[in-house]
Amino acid sequence: MRVWMVADSYLPMVPIGEVMRAIGFAEVVESRHPDYKKGDRVSGLTGLQDYVIIDKSAKTFFQKLPKIPFVSDTVFLGALGTNGLTAFFGMEIAVPKKGETLVVSAAAGATGSIAGQIGKIHGCRVVGIAGTDEKCAWITEGLGFDAAVNYKHPDWKEKLAAATPSGIDIDFENVGGEIMQEVVNRMNLHGRVVVCGFISGYTKEAPNMVSLGTVIVKRLHIQGFLILDYASRFMEAAKQLGQWKMFGKLKDRETIVEGLDKGPDAINMLFTGGNIGKTIVKV
Ligand SMILES: NC(=O)c1ccc[n+]([C@@H]2O[C@H](COP(=O)([O-])OP(=O)(O)OC[C@H]3O[C@@H](n4cnc5c(N)ncnc54)[C@H](OP(=O)(O)O)[C@@H]3O)[C@@H](O)[C@H]2O)c1
Repeated sequence: MRVWMVADSYLPMVPIGEVMRAIGFAEVVESRHPDYKKGDRVSGLTGLQDYVIIDKSAKTFFQKLPKIPFVSDTVFLGALGTNGLTAFFGMEIAVPKKGETLVVSAAAGATGSIAGQIGKIHGCRVVGIAGTDEKCAWITEGLGFDAAVNYKHPDWKEKLAAATPSGIDIDFENVGGEIMQEVVNRMNLHGRVVVCGFISGYTKEAPNMVSLGTVIVKRLHIQGFLILDYASRFMEAAKQLGQWKMFGKLKDRETIVEGLDKGPDAINMLFTGGNIGKTIVKV
């Protein structure tokens, strides 16, 4: 959303005064569309608003969703939604192998927390980087990460070195800047850097601190990706994520902010680190 506010990029900019583009989980309250009836539960580009009117092209963008017993509906926004899918395909790019060391930044967030758990499913040693001790405790004790490093502690670089004694094979990068630089410096030969995001650079100009010399000497494979490119495979990935969730291999957490007027506060939380897991605005 922050990127969409500034300029046209992979999607057109959202101008001031327009409804903020957002994926939502919604209930149909009225329908003249043959495929949708009152009470259907759907997910799609609702925008951040109380109600949305969708025309007949709805089917392309709105997925009808089942009710899964014992699972909250909002799982379709996080672990089984955009963030889960992003983690899934990002980890596919990483080609994780048993015994490798994976580092995930913004590890207690919606995407990072799932990426790290997928790494565990593949048998990796998983180290998360996050901004509070509470988040570090959640990803280790709650999610089974092997170690966590709070980057706000002054000795975090030493802690990262201690947590990755055999170096780093995969960087699932969500943050960029100094954190990425430190992780890349500890990468092993032929390591893979999956650039999912660089949130430290979304609100201010952040210098690219990764040395190309290091990339060459370590023969690193660096790949950025956008989840939109994987739309044709969403179902396949959602099924796998759903199975993992059912068998208790994927845990998730949500930060729910109540009220449309609190939307901006919710977005800001992503930049202050006030959220844990998926951030949802309930309107
Ligand atoms: N490529 C794609 O298709 C795609 C799709 C979805 C998301 N993404 C990217 O994935 C990343 C995570 O997104 P999300 O929606 O899952 O958000 P999130 O991780 O739930 O929330 C963002 C987290 O980033 C951390 N953070 C914010 N500013 C930071 C900074 N300057 N330095 C270090 N950490 C910082 C905060 O946690 P701390 O308390 O740990 O600082 C915050 O909780 C973002 O970069 C986003 O752009 C990419």
